[in-house]
Formats: sequence, structure tokens, C-alpha cells
Amino acid sequence: MKHLLLTLVATVAVSIPALASQELADANKCKKCHHVDIVKDGPSFKQIAKKYVGQDGIANKLVNKVMKGSSGVWGKENEMPENKKITKEDAKTIVEWILTLK
Ligand code: HEC
Repeated sequence: MKHLLLTLVATVAVSIPALASQELADANKCKKCHHVDIVKDGPSFKQIAKKYVGQDGIANKLVNKVMKGSSGVWGKENEMPENKKITKEDAKTIVEWILTLK
């Protein structure tokens, strides 16, 4: 019983941050253009994770992109507009979550 309880606590502790990040992604309209698995206007979050995971300083670079916008990396027609409303902390939380999705 004790073991079961510990497993349960560990599972909840791991899934809460992921959920919070998804909600942040929803609240900041990222999902309008991005899906975890499917390519929409923007690349899927899994594609992004695959491309960048393990690169030095990548979280900070992507946080800047999320805040300032991006173009020319994933194809010429589509660009990501600047996001004036998102805070740096929220952008960082979402980016760190994206990088776990590989
Ligand atoms: C209006 C559509 C749109 C919205 C809203 C949007 N994105 Fe994007 N995003 C794009 C497009 C298009 C690209 C590809 C840009 C490029 O080719 O440089 C992109 C690229 C990215 C990249 C990769 C940048 C790179 O240098 O490879 C990340 C990370 C990202 N988006 C995260 C987010 C997050 C987090 C949010 C929400 C805060 C968000 N996006 C909201 C369209 C959008």
C-alpha cells in the first residue's frame, strides 16, 4: 500500500508541471498555430524538440524567439509574430516543456 501511494505521488508530481505548461500554451494561443504532433501554421512541438534538444543555451534562444517572433527557419511563407503579452517566465516554462516532447 505504501509503495502504491508513493508511486501515485511521484506520478502526480511529474504530470502537474506538464499540464500547467500545456495550459500556458493554451492561454497564450500557441495552440492556434502549433500542435504537439501535427504541423499546422507552425512546426509541431515534437519537431521543434527533435531539432533543438541538447543544444547549448537553446532554451534561452527559443524563449527570445517566442517573445520576439521568428521567420525563415521552418519555411519561408509562415512566420511567428511577436508575442507582446507573454512573460519571460511563462515563455520559459512552455519552451522547457516543448524540449521534453521529443
Ligand atoms: C500565428 C501563428 C503562431 C503562434 C500564435 C505561435 N507560433 Fe510559434 N511558430 C509559428 C511559425 C510559423 C513558426 C516557424 C517560424 C520560422 O520558420 O522561423 C514558429 C516557430 C516556433 C518555434 C521554433 C523557433 C525556431 O527558431 O525554430 C517555437 C519554439 C515556437 N514557435 C513556440 C511558440 C510558442 C511557445 C507560442 C505561444 C506563446 C507560439 N509559438 C505561438 C507560428 C506561431
